[in-house]
Amino acid sequence: MNPIQRVGSKTMGEPEVGCRQSLPQGIARSILCRAGRRWPSLAARYRAMRRIAWFLGEIPVSHYRQVRKLTCLLCAFRHTQVGYARLSNVYELAQEAERAGLPGCFVECGVWKGGCAAVMGMIAATAGSRRLIWLFDSFEGMPAATKEDGEAAREITDRFDGSLVPVGSNVASLAEVQHYFFDRLKLNPARVVFRPGWFQNTLPASRQEVGPIALLRLDGDWYESTRCCLEELYDQLVVGGYLIIDDYGHFPGCRKAVNEFFETRGLRPRWVPIDYTGVYAQKVGEDRIGS
Ligand SMILES: C[S@@+](CC[C@H](N)C(=O)[O-])C[C@H]1O[C@@H](n2cnc3c(N)ncnc32)[C@H](O)[C@@H]1O
Repeated sequence: MNPIQRVGSKTMGEPEVGCRQSLPQGIARSILCRAGRRWPSLAARYRAMRRIAWFLGEIPVSHYRQVRKLTCLLCAFRHTQVGYARLSNVYELAQEAERAGLPGCFVECGVWKGGCAAVMGMIAATAGSRRLIWLFDSFEGMPAATKEDGEAAREITDRFDGSLVPVGSNVASLAEVQHYFFDRLKLNPARVVFRPGWFQNTLPASRQEVGPIALLRLDGDWYESTRCCLEELYDQLVVGGYLIIDDYGHFPGCRKAVNEFFETRGLRPRWVPIDYTGVYAQKVGEDRIGS
């Protein structure tokens, strides 16, 4: 029986009201209770070990000397789908924004469990800057794809009508991300703004409040999600600021949205590849992105 399952009308591990218990009894109850609540299953532990081994294996040997950076990334990698290269890229660009004293906030659209966003938050906190971290996600997972997303989207959904309903993939709850940020990492809640909901609704309603942006990280996978983020937020990226597109290489719909957006602006970004999918560019002028 799971130690926190109810026995009669009581939950094991909770002290019985009005009933005295010895110290060893109390300790035993507390251990059983914690074990029941927190120990993951063997399968989950195996998956976690594989992920740790994979992540450690991705770190270039020369980076092992960067203790501060590795400490930060090790706090984040279990809460993100991205590998070392893209996590390291968020770290470096956020650091660079702080070093250069760029005005504006850090934004991520497509947060999932918050690993990349946490790196932004940890950098801003360590730098002692007052900038805000704005985080946009449904916190219900992906919406339906559209035909623009093509066959690659089938790994996530077989729904292609573009409706804003959760399709049950990439789901992480707002409560779990807030627990990670504020209880585990002890980030300051006054510096992090969560906007749960579909980008198509939350971005138009929040863009003015968001204001200038120093670092804009887009990780919404789909054509419509990416297009909406660019249309609503790109103009707020400050000159000198960075735009990161997580899915440029992996999802053709995302790439199409990015290419179309910049074509209609008459801009030809010079992307810096991060890995097989992620790219970034610096806004070097109102009419130039990438140098
Ligand atoms: C691949 S995950 C993000 C991964 C995350 N950045 C990380 O560090 O691992 C994609 C996220 O985008 C969100 N998303 C995609 N389209 C969205 C939309 N139109 N509105 C709100 N959230 C969306 C999903 O809920 C999901 O959490």
